[in-house]
Amino acid sequence: MSGQVFVIGHPLVQHKLTLMRMKDTSTSSFRQLLREISVLLGYEVCRDMPLTMTEIETPIAPMMAPVLDGKKIVLISILRAGGGILDGMLEILPSARVGHIGLYRDPKTLTAVEYYFKVPDMMADRDCIVVDPMLATGHSAVAAVDRLKETGPRSIKFVCLLTCPEGIREFHSHHPDVPIYTASIDIKLNDHGYIIPGLGDAGDRLFGTK
Ligand code: URA
Repeated sequence: MSGQVFVIGHPLVQHKLTLMRMKDTSTSSFRQLLREISVLLGYEVCRDMPLTMTEIETPIAPMMAPVLDGKKIVLISILRAGGGILDGMLEILPSARVGHIGLYRDPKTLTAVEYYFKVPDMMADRDCIVVDPMLATGHSAVAAVDRLKETGPRSIKFVCLLTCPEGIREFHSHHPDVPIYTASIDIKLNDHGYIIPGLGDAGDRLFGTK
């Protein structure tokens, strides 16, 4: 079974992504653009979320109106660059709960090593949206979702800004049940595990650490 991949081709997303890719884009612009794109990706990822009806009163009349159960949504940020997407998504999902998974990439083996894991309780009732800007080798994403599945969430979706064929293949070979939402599938990985053409190191560009 191969998994689903949704490429968000909306012109606003594509335009902002191009600005983010440019090597001379400043840290503050990069951060602002990631926040804005994340709002738009969040809009797409919520497209099929279930609504329940609740009774409200408008100034004119009572009515039954649809609502999302925001408390059932958990945004899971993969540290550290996931924080850039998290901020944008929280703007449109302010009631969402938040979990964090800390993984670092072993520079020699490129495999993921966990150093932090904290998610809300009652995961069986919750729909998770895992966020990480770059789905590159796929090792961290696979490890994060492996770990998350141990908590038994109701559903999991994965949102990234960029990915590549190698990352999608690796991720879906382990988690074909988890759909990927992305703004672009780039050409390939280089020998250091970076996406080509990509945008460089998302964490460094977001936090200005290089
Ligand atoms: N992580 C990044 O930040 N950039 C890449 O291109 C790959 C992994």
